[in-house]
Amino acid sequence: MSLIKIENVSKMYFGGEGSEGAVEVLKNINLQIEKGEFLALLGPSGSGKSTLLSVLGALNPPTSGQVIIDGIPIYELDRERRADFRHEYIGFVFQQYQLIPYLTALENVMLPLAITKRSDKEQRKMAQRVLEKVGLGKKASRLPNQLSGGEQNRVAIARAIVNEPEIIFADEPTGSLDSKTANEILDLFRALNQEGLTIIMVTHNEENLAWVSRSVSIRDGQLLATSKAEGGRDEVNAY
Ligand SMILES: Nc1ncnc2c1ncn2[C@@H]1O[C@H](COP(=O)(O)OP(=O)(O)O)[C@@H](O)[C@H]1O
Ligand SMILES: [Mg+2]
Repeated sequence: MSLIKIENVSKMYFGGEGSEGAVEVLKNINLQIEKGEFLALLGPSGSGKSTLLSVLGALNPPTSGQVIIDGIPIYELDRERRADFRHEYIGFVFQQYQLIPYLTALENVMLPLAITKRSDKEQRKMAQRVLEKVGLGKKASRLPNQLSGGEQNRVAIARAIVNEPEIIFADEPTGSLDSKTANEILDLFRALNQEGLTIIMVTHNEENLAWVSRSVSIRDGQLLATSKAEGGRDEVNAY
């Protein structure tokens, strides 16, 4: 059984007042993602990458179709159960990191633990351990604006993994980084993937494909698959 199954997913956005009506951003998308994959989602700006990621990440219901994760049709859950599901299965690394500016790195990483029943001391210990894992153990007490872009990204990754989710969704995590820092972040994702995390990463940079196990592209709301074939030559199939 695939870890993530997307069946006939379409997503329309209905514009605000005075707009010309509905826009279909995702058109009948089908995709299966196996546990342990490191999948890249490519596509030009405005092609629907962030929308697809949020639909997959239990944050944004499709207009039609189903998303099934670990056998659970996630949009059939009510809001509260879907939030619980997200908490258990999913870590999100947002495009602009979305760190809370007045909280330290450690406190930002502790945020997802707030609703657990663990003691404050235990939460701090867990957050510290994850910060060490991403190479920021010594900077735990810094505020986001006292960290570089790459370091803020690492804090966002630490926050995404502190709950030990099954799946990480990362929206252009290297988009605003220089190539050396970007490569370090990709190395970190690869290490997490090798520990068993399934990772789905949006990127518009084809150089990042050297790190992933498979890529799919989105064009005009539809998916094109670029699979890494044996022998190194890529095959392109339309779904
Ligand atoms: N909440 C929304 N309401 C209306 N239109 C939206 C909304 N979010 C995104 N869109 C539109 O959907 C299209 C795809 O957006 P997005 O998924 O952000 O693309 P990408 O991440 O590939 O740049 C764009 O035309 C965007 O303007
Ligand atoms: Mg986007």
